[in-house]
Amino acid sequence: MLKIAVLISGSGSNLQAIMDSIESGELNCSLEMVISDRENAYGLERARNKNIKTYVVSKKDYGNCLSQEIFKLVKGRVDLVVLAGFLSILEGEILTEFKNRIINIHPSLIPAFCGKGMYGIKVHEEALKFGVKFSGCTVHFVDAGTDSGAIIEQRVVPVYCEDTPAELQSRILTEEHKLLPQVIGLIAENKIRLEKDKAVLFR
Ligand code: GRF
Repeated sequence: MLKIAVLISGSGSNLQAIMDSIESGELNCSLEMVISDRENAYGLERARNKNIKTYVVSKKDYGNCLSQEIFKLVKGRVDLVVLAGFLSILEGEILTEFKNRIINIHPSLIPAFCGKGMYGIKVHEEALKFGVKFSGCTVHFVDAGTDSGAIIEQRVVPVYCEDTPAELQSRILTEEHKLLPQVIGLIAENKIRLEKDKAVLFR
């Protein structure tokens, strides 16, 4: 069975969606640990409620060694690292040792509204500023860049002219909660392969 670690920084609603999918039997994988870079992340509580092992690896305590510390925790213990609202940038050995085994969810249709500094409500403010008619979410592999790894799957939602950033965010989040467990399931079933740097889905 695929063993996963979920990395969070905040509310952890995507983590909750993963735990719920596992519990309902829709997602067949084992959640080995939750790691947060913030000690007050609500997602930690969600994990503890389900008796999942939690770790806090904060910038304050680990500074430049944050990625290395996370690598130590996941090395040999999980097959896949899932970034679900994780705000620190991973670098160094973890990226090479877990090449194509780290995925991230981003609340836009990459390559729109992504990259450095583009997170949280800002993503949706920018989408509304541009007047796009559709936005959505993307699950992609993580590489050394920001939101630049191969795209695995995307979901689209409509954008209405009367939307506030918070309304758009919430519409997209609903899709994130379906998409992320689905992609983890596809990886667990070995249905995602990389061909010439593009993620291809085998049904
Ligand atoms: C989500 O919108 C995710 O795409 C982004 O950060 C948000 C995290 O939400 N990377 P949550 O912590 O899962 O509730």
